[in-house]
Amino acid sequence: MVKRNTCVFISGKGTNLKNLILKSRDYNFPINIKLVVCNNKKAEGIKLAKINSIPLLLVNTNKRNFENLIIKFLKKYKISFICLAGYMKIISKNFLKNFRKDIINIHPSLLPKFKGLNTFKRVLKNNEKKTGCTVHFVNEKLDGGKIIVRKSFSINKKDTELLIKNKTQKLEYIAFPEAIVKIFRNY
Ligand code: GAR
Repeated sequence: MVKRNTCVFISGKGTNLKNLILKSRDYNFPINIKLVVCNNKKAEGIKLAKINSIPLLLVNTNKRNFENLIIKFLKKYKISFICLAGYMKIISKNFLKNFRKDIINIHPSLLPKFKGLNTFKRVLKNNEKKTGCTVHFVNEKLDGGKIIVRKSFSINKKDTELLIKNKTQKLEYIAFPEAIVKIFRNY
């Protein structure tokens, strides 16, 4: 199968990156991870790129043209698909104009509920009965693009923020690969 040259953007631990690296080793999984972009030099996920010999671009988002640098690298590595896996920076309109292929994001709530940050805290405060994660296409609206896959679980009375986070992330490791397979199934 022809696999898509993919770039994964991270800012933190990179557990979703790790999961996608493992999945991409499968002959039938439709992506190859050719580049990792990270905007946090202290991110644990950087190690994963290194261990797996995946080229890494570390960007400083305080620099005005950091997205142009990313675009340059995307071209260099012939990237045609981007996965945002815990990338805590909003993708600009200009970037979207320059990269006209698919970008998907994983978000730790049942979108359209709880867009943005601090989702687990807000889910608990709002006494939600269930929560989960969503994989969606990225457009110019924050966490507002078309939904590809959503997975949920029921919240127990005893659930804490940490428990909800752990349960959500477990679902993310199923939802993200599932969304990728779904996107490329018809290509
Ligand atoms: C994931 O739970 C993801 O849903 C969330 O960051 C975490 C990254 O974990 N993303 C967002 O909150 C985006 N707004 P990881 O670095 O271990 O994959």
